[in-house]
Amino acid sequence: MQEHKATNIRWHAGEVTRAQREALLGQRGCTIWMTGYSASGKSTIAAALERELLQRGHHAYRLDGDNIRHGLSRDLGFSAEDRAENIRRIGEVAKLFADAGIITIASFISPYRADRESVRASHAEASIPFLETFISCPIEVAERRDPKGLYRKARAGELKGFTGIDDPYEAPLNPEMELKTDELTVGESVGLILARLQEDGLLHPAQQ
Ligand code: ADX
Repeated sequence: MQEHKATNIRWHAGEVTRAQREALLGQRGCTIWMTGYSASGKSTIAAALERELLQRGHHAYRLDGDNIRHGLSRDLGFSAEDRAENIRRIGEVAKLFADAGIITIASFISPYRADRESVRASHAEASIPFLETFISCPIEVAERRDPKGLYRKARAGELKGFTGIDDPYEAPLNPEMELKTDELTVGESVGLILARLQEDGLLHPAQQ
């Protein structure tokens, strides 16, 4: 946990509650946190899930690794420290979106357990549902897919510190969901997430 640099700051709660926003939207804000290797299928499933939720009348929004690194995290690389800071920022942004009542879909490699656990803890502290979703497949499958040619570059030594090749990936020990993308279609994965959201009562506002 980073210490606060600013002093003399005080939280202002505002005059509208999360429950009121959720009642307006007819759903509950939450964060679906997808973690897994590059090319495991995170972005594909996230995009299909977002589309499906919107078609069903739900307000969802996607935060995606490559996209966020074009803006909010453009000053960060792929060292362990930079990845930690990347995940800290996304965790805070996801929490804000979820607090706004939005079904927030974050898809980031997020290779370190400790970084994901601190995002989980900060959601728990704010009583915001956090669903860690392990988008899993054997590294050989991700490497075979290689849509961006990055595994090839990493094997050739042209790209250093690539997750799964010469940089670690710490799989979740207790995720809310695991979707094996070498066994499931994209549609099946999306269906399983929707079922879980329904089961957890997130597709309706909480009872007052
Ligand atoms: S994370 O580790 O900080 O969570 P993030 O999900 O934002 O990573 O970004 C991963 C994306 O950056 C990959 O999908 C890939 O396109 C690209 N990338 C470039 N270099 C690396 C690297 N060394 N390791 C992993 N991904 C990389």
